[in-house]
Amino acid sequence: MSGRILTVAQQKGGSGKTTLAAHLAVALAAKSGEPVAILDVDPQGSLGTWYEAREETLGEDETGLEFRTASGWGARREARSLARSHGYVIIDTPPKTDTDAKPAIDAADFVIVPIQPTPVDLWATSQTIDLAAREDTPALLVMNRVPPRASLTGEMADAIAASGYDTLGARLGNRTVFASAMGRGASVTENAPSSKAAQEVNLLIEELVSRVG
Ligand SMILES: Nc1ncnc2c1ncn2[C@@H]1O[C@H](COP(=O)(O)OP(=O)(O)OP(=O)(O)O)[C@@H](O)[C@H]1O
Ligand SMILES: [Mg+2]
Repeated sequence: MSGRILTVAQQKGGSGKTTLAAHLAVALAAKSGEPVAILDVDPQGSLGTWYEAREETLGEDETGLEFRTASGWGARREARSLARSHGYVIIDTPPKTDTDAKPAIDAADFVIVPIQPTPVDLWATSQTIDLAAREDTPALLVMNRVPPRASLTGEMADAIAASGYDTLGARLGNRTVFASAMGRGASVTENAPSSKAAQEVNLLIEELVSRVG
């Protein structure tokens, strides 16, 4: 088996990397039926904290995911090793992609870039996209925390389209259930399966799988 390595990266802090990584992992495991591994290369360890909460809620052997950490160039080696026995390897990275996230971007089949619809986030995104391009890794943008105020979003969607970046049509709204599910070591598809947020995640996964295989 050689699974897909998906690295979630974005220079801008707080853009939703960890939230997206956790939600992708849970949803891909459920949808594909294949084993899924998550790899935390962020020294903040947020994805690891989420995973520990998950172990407490579900039991250590019932998380449905394999969790590892790595640092520096160990991330590339660990990701490739996990891909031999997992259908998907999801890597969560720290902000400041230029140094810390580079090995994870290098190892990836795709870089998934969450972006909040603000001009400042779009500026920061170009650094992440450029780094992915230098490593010859295709990048896919995912709009996250999209506010209900349609005007700003429309303007930003136009600006992102004008940037030429490959952006998924599926978007995640700014919804508190994302934060509360994370706090319980869960995803919104588990905690609130009939919520708008869960619908958004399901649409995102469908589109993502059609792109990355
Ligand atoms: N779609 C969303 N709706 C509501 N809140 C969200 C959403 N996505 C992320 N958040 C919240 O935004 C904050 C930052 O999210 P997260 O930790 O996933 O970002 P990050 O990019 O991993 O941050 P860092 O750069 O520090 O690693 C968290 O409080 C999280 O709960
Ligand atoms: Mg994070």
